[in-house]
Amino acid sequence: MEGYALITGATSGIGLELALNFAKDGISLILVARGEEKLKELKSRFETDYAVDVRVYAKDLTKDKAAEELYEAIMEEGLQVDYLVNNAGFGSFGRLVDTDLSVEKDLVKLNVLSLLEMNKRFVKPMAERGYGYVLNVASLAAFMPGPVMANYYASKAYVLSLSEAMHEELKHQGVKVSALCPGPVKTGFQERAKMQKTPASKAFMMEAKAVADIGYLGMWRGKAVVVPGTFEKVIPVLTRLLPRSLVRKAAFLSQQE
Ligand SMILES: NC(=O)c1ccc[n+]([C@@H]2O[C@H](COP(=O)([O-])OP(=O)(O)OC[C@H]3O[C@@H](n4cnc5c(N)ncnc54)[C@H](OP(=O)(O)O)[C@@H]3O)[C@@H](O)[C@H]2O)c1
Repeated sequence: MEGYALITGATSGIGLELALNFAKDGISLILVARGEEKLKELKSRFETDYAVDVRVYAKDLTKDKAAEELYEAIMEEGLQVDYLVNNAGFGSFGRLVDTDLSVEKDLVKLNVLSLLEMNKRFVKPMAERGYGYVLNVASLAAFMPGPVMANYYASKAYVLSLSEAMHEELKHQGVKVSALCPGPVKTGFQERAKMQKTPASKAFMMEAKAVADIGYLGMWRGKAVVVPGTFEKVIPVLTRLLPRSLVRKAAFLSQQE
């Protein structure tokens, strides 16, 4: 049976462009997001344009049981997931003392806990079959502490660390795990996070398609860490070379209008 690509946050931005990459290669899709209408619209569009099978699940992955319900529904349908893209995520802008606690908790539930559970549930069968690809969407934020987006940066550091460790654990079992670490990308992300438009973000904003295309290629190549963009590639190097005190100050300055 042909394996499916399971993509969370597949209805807009980077997730949608990643879904397009799989569909163009004739890989059937399992798409997950909260918005049911958009999911249905994408199902009919992808099935018509690319002749792939598309299953959609409207799930809020911040909910405790969502990943478990999703796993059970997919198993009940008898679908085999060979490609897992954990892309759903959001940010929250503001000093941690000022932001809304329930939003910050939801951020951890989505960016960290649901990503952990999706990996736990769907990667084991891949390892048992000896075949699979995982693309966990982290961020350049993963490489540094992020004043005024503290919880978001910390959540992405978790995603990067988890993915790199999984990459080492699974590379001899036929499962390739990659972390995609983009800088600023033109999507609905900034508006949802209530971010201000900074000169740094405007200067280095990439298109979602370019980021997804690079991420998709990096996934197939089995790269542990994929950083799209030329300038962006310098950042992980600088954060290793510079004193941490300077890195966090620079990260703070980059968020100023
Ligand atoms: N844009 C950037 O600058 C940037 C930079 C680095 C990393 N990233 C990362 O890239 C990933 C994708 O973000 P994006 O920029 O493409 O943002 P986006 O355009 O806002 O897309 C987010 C996707 O996630 C879904 N989603 C949001 N909350 C969800 C929930 N609780 N449960 C299930 N699905 C949910 C959204 O659909 P619904 O609203 O219908 O649920 C949508 O499909 C995120 O992990 C983000 O942290 C973004």
